[in-house]
Amino acid sequence: MSKIFITGAAGFIGSNFVKLIAEQRPDWKIVAYDVLSYAGNLANLDEMMGNANFKFIKGDICDADAVDKAIAGCYFVVHFAAESHVDRSILGCADFIRTNIDGTRVLLDAARKHNIKRFLQVSTDEVYGSLGKDGLFSEDSHLHPNSPYSASKASADLLALSYYHTHNTPVVVTRCSNNYGPYQFPEKLIPLFVTNLVEGKKVPVYGDGMQVRDWIHVEDHNRAIFAVLENGNLGEVYNIGSDNEQYNINITKMILKYLGKDESSIQYVTDRPGHDRRYAIDATKIKTQLGWRPQIDFATGLEGTIQWYLDNKKWWSEIKTGKYLEYYKQQYSDRNK
Ligand code: NAD
Ligand code: TYD
Repeated sequence: MSKIFITGAAGFIGSNFVKLIAEQRPDWKIVAYDVLSYAGNLANLDEMMGNANFKFIKGDICDADAVDKAIAGCYFVVHFAAESHVDRSILGCADFIRTNIDGTRVLLDAARKHNIKRFLQVSTDEVYGSLGKDGLFSEDSHLHPNSPYSASKASADLLALSYYHTHNTPVVVTRCSNNYGPYQFPEKLIPLFVTNLVEGKKVPVYGDGMQVRDWIHVEDHNRAIFAVLENGNLGEVYNIGSDNEQYNINITKMILKYLGKDESSIQYVTDRPGHDRRYAIDATKIKTQLGWRPQIDFATGLEGTIQWYLDNKKWWSEIKTGKYLEYYKQQYSDRNK
């Protein structure tokens, strides 16, 4: 029987991964570790609470003593915990440097001390920077992070690989494209736009809306992480993506259509500073080496996601209050073109 330590387990992707492990490996013990920052929400783990193999620990990954106690006896580590929003990293990046870089260092040191058998660093395609009209990111593409967020993730990703080379720490790294799905915090494009429209507000499209992201459903991402965790080669990087490039404006129009709204709900706003134009992933390696394939097509996945937000208004309306509204004002007021 294995014991797995999952950081950022109360966030969007981490909470979904917890549920995948509980379903796929019901005999594994799960230690879910999360500081419950603004983005962490125990309600994301509601269905796990009665599970005897599940334990939640509220803790900071930068707190070496707390990590040391919590990680003891674990076999796997899957490290999701991070400050994850590019726009917030533009407002100020101290928390990004602390959590994403120093927090990863604390975990890597704990992994060494406790003889962890596999440490999976959840990274992002944003470490590669921006593409022109053509081309895809492969695992060998140069790293060229352009935002404080992606620079902090690139640092963590390289630090993890350095522990493999220097200390033989059994690290694997995944770099995935943009995720969507239920329980995503409503600061990111899709949940922000859906919830704004339900509230009768406009949706703030940055610049010309012609930026491209390569969208993947969170369940496909987590099935890929699981495959890499069990069978990936140590010291290697695996790109994850589902060949689904979409212009932001097209996604916006798909959401408007599902919700029966027209384009008068679009508000074009000043672009994000340093906005990466296009991301696109070549996932050949994980497909050929590990046999992983994405299973959820975008139209179906997006409709299911929008419907989830319609059915779970309580979940997001409790978030869109207080500090969230302060953030929203700071981010979006004075931005109208
Ligand atoms: P999220 O913001 O929804 O969740 C992050 C979680 O980390 C939250 O529960 C938060 O409470 C926790 N956390 C933050 N600081 C912490 C700390 N100091 N100690 C312990 N816990 C802390 O983010 P997400 O979208 O679920 O992303 C998870 C991971 O996946 C991140 O590492 C992110 O970089 C990576 N990733 C995300 C995407 C995406 O599209 N969302 C794509 C590729 C990779
Ligand atoms: P986001 O969900 O923040 O992910 P990332 O920046 O990590 O790719 O944004 C996805 C795309 O949507 C990105 O090109 C920025 C754009 N965007 C908007 O146009 N308006 C918004 O209000 C937000 C949050 C994002």
